[in-house]
Amino acid sequence: MRLSYVLGLLSALAVSGLPLNGVLAQDTIEHRVDELLGQMTLEEKIGQMNLVSHGPPLRWEDLSEGRAGAVLNFNNAADVARAQALVQQSRLKIPLLFGLDVLHGFRTQFPLPLGEAAAFNPRLSALAAETAAKEASHVGVNWTFAPMADLSRDSRWGRIVEGFGEDPYLGSVLTAARVEGFRKGGLAAAAKHFAGYGAPQGGRDYDTTYIPRAEMYDTYLPPFRAAVEAGSASLMAAFNALNGEPSTANAWLLTDVLRGQWGFDGFVTSDWVGIGELINHGVAADGAEAARKAVLAGVDMDMMGQLYIEHLPEEVRAGRVPESVIDESVRRILRTKFRLGLFDRPAIDPTRTDAEFPSKEARRAAREVARETLVLLQNKGDLLPVKPGTRSIAVIGPLADAPQDQMGPHAARGHKEDTVTILQGIRQRARSAGIAVTHAPACDLMCRSTEQLPAALETAKRADLVIAVFGEPQELSGEAASRAHLELNGKQIEILEALAATGKPTALVIMGGRPQVLGPVAERIPSILMAWYPGTEGGNAVADVLFGDVSPSGKLPLTWPRATGQLPMYYNRLPSSRPTIPDNRFTLQYIDEEITPLYPFGWGLSYTQFAYSDATIARQRLDAGDVLEVSVSVTNKGSKAGQEVVQLYTRDPVASRSRPLRELKAFEKISLKPGETKRVTLRVPVEALGFHLSDGTYVVEAGAIQAFVGGSSLAEAVGEAEILNTIRMPPQERRASASTSVAQ
Ligand code: BGC
Repeated sequence: MRLSYVLGLLSALAVSGLPLNGVLAQDTIEHRVDELLGQMTLEEKIGQMNLVSHGPPLRWEDLSEGRAGAVLNFNNAADVARAQALVQQSRLKIPLLFGLDVLHGFRTQFPLPLGEAAAFNPRLSALAAETAAKEASHVGVNWTFAPMADLSRDSRWGRIVEGFGEDPYLGSVLTAARVEGFRKGGLAAAAKHFAGYGAPQGGRDYDTTYIPRAEMYDTYLPPFRAAVEAGSASLMAAFNALNGEPSTANAWLLTDVLRGQWGFDGFVTSDWVGIGELINHGVAADGAEAARKAVLAGVDMDMMGQLYIEHLPEEVRAGRVPESVIDESVRRILRTKFRLGLFDRPAIDPTRTDAEFPSKEARRAAREVARETLVLLQNKGDLLPVKPGTRSIAVIGPLADAPQDQMGPHAARGHKEDTVTILQGIRQRARSAGIAVTHAPACDLMCRSTEQLPAALETAKRADLVIAVFGEPQELSGEAASRAHLELNGKQIEILEALAATGKPTALVIMGGRPQVLGPVAERIPSILMAWYPGTEGGNAVADVLFGDVSPSGKLPLTWPRATGQLPMYYNRLPSSRPTIPDNRFTLQYIDEEITPLYPFGWGLSYTQFAYSDATIARQRLDAGDVLEVSVSVTNKGSKAGQEVVQLYTRDPVASRSRPLRELKAFEKISLKPGETKRVTLRVPVEALGFHLSDGTYVVEAGAIQAFVGGSSLAEAVGEAEILNTIRMPPQERRASASTSVAQ
């Protein structure tokens, strides 16, 4: 159901101010907010702006004294109930927000968001978010610090695993799907980290970011805007400085763009001690100045800094912060609490636990999602799937049986005992086919030595097929896990080369939170499957694909480099003045590495082959309000069923500014039986074919637009359309692009 439809329905039914399924009408909410605000002391107002974590710094009395509006890291019903009871002792009894990083699951772990993005399937993103939200809200969590809407083009940055990769369109679609899924499951979202956090210099987490404003509007902001339009209750300000102005004190981001241009009326929280870190940024001399700068810029809630509660009362009394600014922040927080229905919810039953999870249904969903996230990077000689007649498989590698690592970072209440490891999944599936499975780890998780290699080689030599499972243990991925060397770490390359040298057919399954630099491995190992961190049901999902029960259908949501030194690297780059000409040094080249990635954006193979034919553009002359419509026939030429992600890219070849060589504008995931053909129509509103100026004005220039369609960013040219008249839209009028597609 479309969001605009839902909103329309709500506003129609809300005219009378009657609650609809627990949702209060907007005017009723505003009235109740004003009424409550009118009863609050300055201290109580500032209390609402304080966000405290469970654990040692928490004074439980703060809750009965009205000195906290929200808490985080509460993950069980007993603690939630205790906090709620304390709030009932406070003068105004304003319910708390209970926030937690529910990123890719609560108890049941789904693939990490970067992997989930590879499914190119918003339905599955929404399903994963909804399942996670249902589990978390069962024990009283009502607010998640997700989705991460940070676009990143640099795999050195460890947090790339928490997002959707390098493309703003894919990111916008999936971010919106996640926000909607969380809401359906009972969690308010906090899209984070606003903004530019995914482009730190050198890929170093927490380092500074320089992004021109036009590029912010074109590339980094659209997923946040999509989150806002999908109804994200809140946003989280980022740690980084953006063009010299820390995001946490950045009035352009937090007020001009977010509130002024996008009309966002939810609230903004800082990140963990982000306000205090304004001192480290060198823009505040002390806590009072940091608090003042943050609140004046538009940060409504202080996560773990205790600076608002400590300094804002005095800042207001001294006239340095107008009380109206505090009122506005509190209004945003209360509005959110009313919208969520928190004032009318009964207290939680403290005996509730997450022990009933993962339910069968959640496991089914986790397996379905994980299956679609697996990307078959190469499959020389069709080594995969496992052939009939195979009698024995050697599973080699430390990550084959790593239940904790398989859950990936930020696993909320994930229990490693719930995980079906890759080894277990293969064993179970092999048993039903009468195939013997042996296992040797070959090294420890960090793969520091080759001591166990001889035993692993012996195991490999005795088998018909080797499935090697290597990659990045969880410790090397996520927050504060920047890497300067993206090669498979430790002795992995040496071990994989030794395995290949046995002459046994070998497939490699890579686990990890980003592309790994494969070096000689890409040459020596014929089949490579990227499994990301596949979560609780990952082992079954990987086995489904390895044994051919399901054809792989994941596509890379980012560019896979050959060498770390190629980063940042992304497909939607601008043209060079000297496009690459092989053997001409004075064109776009490296002198010591190829200029191309190892695998491009959108790439991923299947066990079947898809042929594209008869691509057409419906109407070549387009004006405002029109839609660029590209149709193509896709045929399954192989003997297995499979899914394909049909991708439409465009280029504006001549504009007043250099425009990307290709931009993804629409995609559709389709299923095809052997021999089947489907005609797919991908649609892009003309209003989504432009670019921004530095002040946020959006321009679609008259002239040619080229279209490309195919199964990756290497898509074939279809032809050109012509935009007849230039369209200009001031920032307030522009809505996030909404391309649609239809498969017949
Ligand atoms: C991270 C946020 C997270 C917060 C609360 C911070 O370190 O940057 O993404 O939501 O901690 O756990």
